[in-house]
Amino acid sequence: MTKMAVFASGNGSNAINLYRYFKRHDHIQVSKIYINNPGAGVIARAIEYDIPYHIFTRKEMNNGMLLEKLEYDGIDVIILAGFLWKIPIDLISAYHGRIWNIHPSLLPKFGGKGMYGMKVHEAVIAAGEKESGITIHEVNEVYDAGAVVFQEKILLDTAETPETLAHRIHLLEHRYFPEVIEKEILRKNA
Ligand code: GRF
Repeated sequence: MTKMAVFASGNGSNAINLYRYFKRHDHIQVSKIYINNPGAGVIARAIEYDIPYHIFTRKEMNNGMLLEKLEYDGIDVIILAGFLWKIPIDLISAYHGRIWNIHPSLLPKFGGKGMYGMKVHEAVIAAGEKESGITIHEVNEVYDAGAVVFQEKILLDTAETPETLAHRIHLLEHRYFPEVIEKEILRKNA
């Protein structure tokens, strides 16, 4: 069984969606949600779905304690699903090629430091883009710059707002993220 850790900072709709997708999977399971924000909405949802979770501090992430915890928990792969802190190098080295992130734009457009949540959708609309989408990519040392494994586009409506775009992007994420991750993990395990 491949044990997946999902890292989340906010509402965690993707974390819960991943959990539900893999709930009865033969080879992959979401073992625990790792949360960096004690006020995150995902905590109530993890309790509701009876999913184990662990809250950690920035200090624990950067002093090796989080890595120790992941190894103690037997975690094989890490999925960043709305996780806002930069992953430290010790974690990237220990899980090299086994960390993926989802970003709510067509990277390399509208990526990089400070580009998260509604800021991304506001920037897409302000730039007069005709399309946007989602990117699933491997995580390396550079923010939003690891190898892209999947992108899906949507055309913007003429009346599109950051809010409508955020909603449409979330639907795309829920539709594709679990199955893309499933394929990637099975490919790497093969
Ligand atoms: C998603 O749009 C994801 O692409 C981005 O953060 C958002 C998280 O949403 N990285 P949720 O917390 O999973 O609802």
